Amino acid sequence: MSRILTGITSNNIPHLGNILGAILPAIELSKQPGNNSLLFIADMHSLISQKDAASRISSVNSVAATWLAFDFDTEKNMLYRQSRIPEVCELTWYLNCFTPYPMLANAHSFKDKSDRLSDVNSGLFTYPVLMAADIILYDADFVPVGKDQIQHLEITRDIASKFNAQYNQDIFVIPEAKVDETVMIVPGIDGQKMSKSYNNFINIFLPDKDLKKVVMSIVTDAKTLEEPKDPDTCNVFKLYQLLADKDQNSEMRSNYTKGNYGYGHAKTALYELIISKFEKQRNRYWELMNNPAELERELQVGEEKARKMAAEKLKLVRSVLGFS
Ligand code: ADP
Ligand code: TRP
Repeated sequence: MSRILTGITSNNIPHLGNILGAILPAIELSKQPGNNSLLFIADMHSLISQKDAASRISSVNSVAATWLAFDFDTEKNMLYRQSRIPEVCELTWYLNCFTPYPMLANAHSFKDKSDRLSDVNSGLFTYPVLMAADIILYDADFVPVGKDQIQHLEITRDIASKFNAQYNQDIFVIPEAKVDETVMIVPGIDGQKMSKSYNNFINIFLPDKDLKKVVMSIVTDAKTLEEPKDPDTCNVFKLYQLLADKDQNSEMRSNYTKGNYGYGHAKTALYELIISKFEKQRNRYWELMNNPAELERELQVGEEKARKMAAEKLKLVRSVLGFS
């Protein structure tokens, strides 16, 4: 049985790039026999930059509703909010005392962010220690992450090994980063990588009219309706291709190359495809967002299981440290 764990920082509604690049692959991985997935919303990490409670609650709910709308199986796996497992904070303190100061001071992500941000708080500095606690509290074997997080996994492995060596016991499992090199890059409406930081994203959960407006604003060249067009350099086609089946794809490709097919037609087809492909998920997302009690129930199932595991591990940690 492999235990796969990953955290998602909650600072916005997940967009089409997150869904195709991270959520769907993680759900596929969680379905494989022999895998057990722990997925948590890193809402305590979000406090480093997001101070407003109402925005935190709404982004946490959006992230949870998205994973549930895409059928993450909360019976087989675990979905929980990091903040509901207070054991992780206690473990963070213990781990802080095993973390060499220069290791954090030299972390790329800290150096990069502390140069750019005006609020360089200590949370930003000790962020990797909370992340290490997130992982080793649950004996995770594999941690699927993007390339930017590889160093944080190395820090996690260092801290866990140091702790194990100090007490000469395998208290913590040493986790491995799992970086998927083949993951597709979903383009945004301006053709750059879709990202919340570039404000070029498609939120598939928008009401029909607003969603259509976003799709209609995808940047194209100025070819006239009559002119044949190159599908491979067109942002609309690139997005369509990621969602369409084989027949829909070849039909769209031939529409482009034949001519007499405008970008407005292609955008309408893309919009309709998003609506039909994600009909079930869009409905489920809003059902959950409009029913916080149901969302809460779903999360509590995972939180109960996570707390049990966390309490067991902390009991062991406290006893080797002489705190029990
Ligand atoms: P953003 O760039 O919008 O801030 P994050 O950095 O929070 O997104 O990414 C969350 C997850 O979604 C990561 O696993 C990341 O690799 C994936 N992801 C983000 N944007 C894209 C994209 N345009 N295409 C594919 N995957 C993406
Ligand atoms: N730092 C991760 C990110 O920004 C989120 C995260 C927090 C995480 N704790 C984690 C990821 C533990 C994996 C494991 O994407």
